[in-house]
Amino acid sequence: MGRFTMTSDNTVGYHETWQRSIDTDTRAGFWLEAAQAVDWITPPRVALQERSPGTWRWFPDGELNTSYNALDRHVLAGRGEQTAVIYDSAMSGTRIRISYLELLGRVSRFAGVLRENGVGTGDRVIVYLPMIPEAIVAMLACARIGAVHSVVFGGFAASELAVRIDDARPTVIVTASGGLEPGRAVEYLPLVQRAMAQSAGSVRTVIVRDREMIPGSAADYAGADDGVAWLDWAIEEAKATPADPVALRSEDPLYILYTSGTTGNPKGIVRDNGGHAVALAWSMRNIYAAGIGDVFWAASDVGWVVGHSYIVYAPLLVGATTVIYEGKPIGTPDAGAFWRVIEEYKVKVLFTAPTAIRAIRRVDPELRELEKYDLSSLHGLFLAGERLDPETYHWANDGLHCPVVDHWWQTETGWAICANPRGIAELETKPGSATFPVPGYDVVILDSKGKPVTRVGKDGNIAIRLPLPPGNLLGIWGSEERFASAYLTAFPGFYATGDSGHFDDDGYLYVMGRTDDVINVAGHRLSTGSLEEVLTLHPAVAECAVLGVHDPLKGQRAAGFVTLKAGASIDHDTLATELVALVREHVGPVAAFRDVTILDRLPKTRSGKILRKTIRQIVDGEPYTVPPTIEDPSTLDALALAVHGATAHGAAGTHQVTP
Ligand code: COA
Ligand code: AMP
Repeated sequence: MGRFTMTSDNTVGYHETWQRSIDTDTRAGFWLEAAQAVDWITPPRVALQERSPGTWRWFPDGELNTSYNALDRHVLAGRGEQTAVIYDSAMSGTRIRISYLELLGRVSRFAGVLRENGVGTGDRVIVYLPMIPEAIVAMLACARIGAVHSVVFGGFAASELAVRIDDARPTVIVTASGGLEPGRAVEYLPLVQRAMAQSAGSVRTVIVRDREMIPGSAADYAGADDGVAWLDWAIEEAKATPADPVALRSEDPLYILYTSGTTGNPKGIVRDNGGHAVALAWSMRNIYAAGIGDVFWAASDVGWVVGHSYIVYAPLLVGATTVIYEGKPIGTPDAGAFWRVIEEYKVKVLFTAPTAIRAIRRVDPELRELEKYDLSSLHGLFLAGERLDPETYHWANDGLHCPVVDHWWQTETGWAICANPRGIAELETKPGSATFPVPGYDVVILDSKGKPVTRVGKDGNIAIRLPLPPGNLLGIWGSEERFASAYLTAFPGFYATGDSGHFDDDGYLYVMGRTDDVINVAGHRLSTGSLEEVLTLHPAVAECAVLGVHDPLKGQRAAGFVTLKAGASIDHDTLATELVALVREHVGPVAAFRDVTILDRLPKTRSGKILRKTIRQIVDGEPYTVPPTIEDPSTLDALALAVHGATAHGAAGTHQVTP
């Protein structure tokens, strides 16, 4: 057993709270009470309302402003001098503290800049920024004037940015000269320019935060005869008239965040203002046990949902101090990077992905770096983004002087579905499990026909009984139909999570994997379908399959299996290199696509379906049975030979490419 084992009979308190949060008789009261943690312009009297089958709205009669709740009210309460944001760039050595008062000033002025550039309530703004405080400023500035931000992660390629521009149709893009990755600067402006050229042309203004250490500024791009104004952030902010927060309906959209689905087209998850603010404020107190003045550090990126919820909104909504960290867990400069930040800023809660912990473990298995730092401020390490494997759990739990909590959630939900809600009760932790459903979530396991799986321990589809609690997605941007078909039609009355898993005897949930083609690489969600679309762009490729295979560091990695068109004469190493480059160009470095296996034929069923599960089992070295419907069993032998080193089989073999 680890050093920190949460044992107690606190399940009674937890169960009572959970029951109140979901029972039809008590649910409304429960969440209206939770809504009191937020300052409303018009306080809601109605908790939730069903608009169309499966589609619900929280606090439909409430009006508020999220930026006011994250900033103004803390200043009005006399906490203006408290640090709101700590910016620590391990990449550039910059360290800055920003008080609530300063942040309010910057956000109000930048909201003024947006307004002066024609942005109004409901207009979309793409935020393409690295991990710098301006990302927080830009997001809150949008929220202040009711504009809908859509943050795009810096590790995506220009074409991914273009897809998002085409879908969200923003009039303004807020960006910077670039981001810093170990050993290289990622220049954003050429990517922005290329993305705009590839898209339909809604953008009228690009506002650029100049980072001196990275080439490129607004001035370099201004003056082209393309109808786009390129403006310098600092100049605009300095002369702007501050904008006051506007009153928004609870259900007005706060942001769109694109995430991978089963197809190449990302889904624009839409979040509301009211439900989101209530849910996040509730989660800070009840899941993370953090509040006013506590230092909360989500070591993620503002481009992901974890960054939206727990770098930006939740900590500021409750008056905590948030850390925005530009760096990695290792190599910037060493495996003590996280411990340094915790000591330096007295971090109370650290939230990151298991892959970050595995990265530290790989470099510093004995935790020598940890000995140099004082981690006494740390009360909890929360992990999400992928399954926390028991081995990593035990290592972290034994080595750190605080509880380690696995919690499960998705971009769609915006906050945890299952967790050990430490603000309610310290429940016993079971390695491999994300503990219990969080209040608000009625989680069930369904078989493929939608019948509850009653056998304890048997895996099935994890679904959530509707309505979803506050803070969950309103829908998919621009397509009600896609929302229903992606989440609601598989199991009527339930939201299909796309994850599979089971409950144990004690009601602990084990999330085991996806039921669709979504994979998780270093906590980054990718669609194998979109990677396949890219591979088939290569003129020599006849067919391909991309699968998520086991990776000891990243949890999963994308592996591509391709066959060549008849008559294609290309050296296999060259093809592999070109395919890797193609994915980097079309999806971005974040796909971390390196493995290409060239086969004579893909293993398939007689009806032509690629045997993905069997291929994955072979690659991962797991036992497998030859499916009775297989077209040609020898394709499996050829695959095994190719991926496991014995490349006697002609030219086949896995090519690992270092870009
Ligand atoms: N902008 C541009 N490129 C980026 C980027 C960004 N914001 N983030 C990552 N990349 C690039 C990396 O530089 C790397 O490029 P390379 O192929 O040229 O080396 C590539 O994308 C893959 O990045 P990543 O998957 O992060 O791998 P890594 O080897 O650089 O780092 C970890 C591995 C585990 C250290 C890293 O993934 C990590 O710190 N993860 C923390 C967890 C996390 O942030 N999860 C997000 C959801 S909670
Ligand atoms: P994202 O939308 O990028 O946050 O990815 C969500 C997906 O990541 C989920 O559907 C799960 O497949 C996976 N995931 C996130 N957290 C966990 C966890 N704690 N345990 C298991 N899987 C997780």
